[in-house]
Amino acid sequence: MKEIRLQKYIAECGIASRRKAEELILQGRVRINGETVTQMGRKVSLNDIVEVDGKPVKMEKRKVYIALNKPVGYISSVKDQFGRKTVLDLVKDVKERVFPVGRLDYDTSGLLLLTNDGDFSYRLTHPKHEIKKVYEAVLMGVPSKDAIMQFNKGLQIDDYLTSPANLEILKSDGKISKVRITIHEGKNRQVRKMCNKIGCPVIKLIRVSIGNVSLGDLKEGSWRNLTDWEINSFLDER
Ligand code: URA
Repeated sequence: MKEIRLQKYIAECGIASRRKAEELILQGRVRINGETVTQMGRKVSLNDIVEVDGKPVKMEKRKVYIALNKPVGYISSVKDQFGRKTVLDLVKDVKERVFPVGRLDYDTSGLLLLTNDGDFSYRLTHPKHEIKKVYEAVLMGVPSKDAIMQFNKGLQIDDYLTSPANLEILKSDGKISKVRITIHEGKNRQVRKMCNKIGCPVIKLIRVSIGNVSLGDLKEGSWRNLTDWEINSFLDER
């Protein structure tokens, strides 16, 4: 959570209305980290200990789960050493301090989940849960029957063998093909590497779903909260 004004903090903890909270502050009944505070401008974060009439007041850290449609040209991290735009620039209106669950390449667009729930993120990114991820891609060339079989069986990439994946040709003009690719892992640039391996490099890559969460008609650069059903569907995968 970012810093917020003391009276807002007290109100959001459900202690009093914001106006009443201002009165409490003026009356000298509020302390921050042991110090009585009577001015209104002070800001607090979740790390501060706020007391009203000697009793600590705490804000339950609200857990947030967000689906973002990441455009190309944003980096999936909280900060970038080269000063590029990050996905956090797209969720500035979210009060909580969220972070991306896994990643999408700078040049990939589509569904990216963000949360402030570390357990949730761990569960989704741990290979043992094998959460299904679906991509739509435009490829150079036309994947052969043999290439599709190799996708199913597993491809040797760098030092690992990919787990069974699926490639379905949606349409092709003989030179360029639109395909749907389903994988259950999330290794670095995995889809691009798999497509290179079968001789059909990726021209465009979009992630359209993760488990039961789909991009649907979410506009590029926009986000929405996950529904309870979507959140629970990941918890059920334990
Ligand atoms: N595979 C890739 O190659 N890139 C992504 O961004 C996601 C999966």
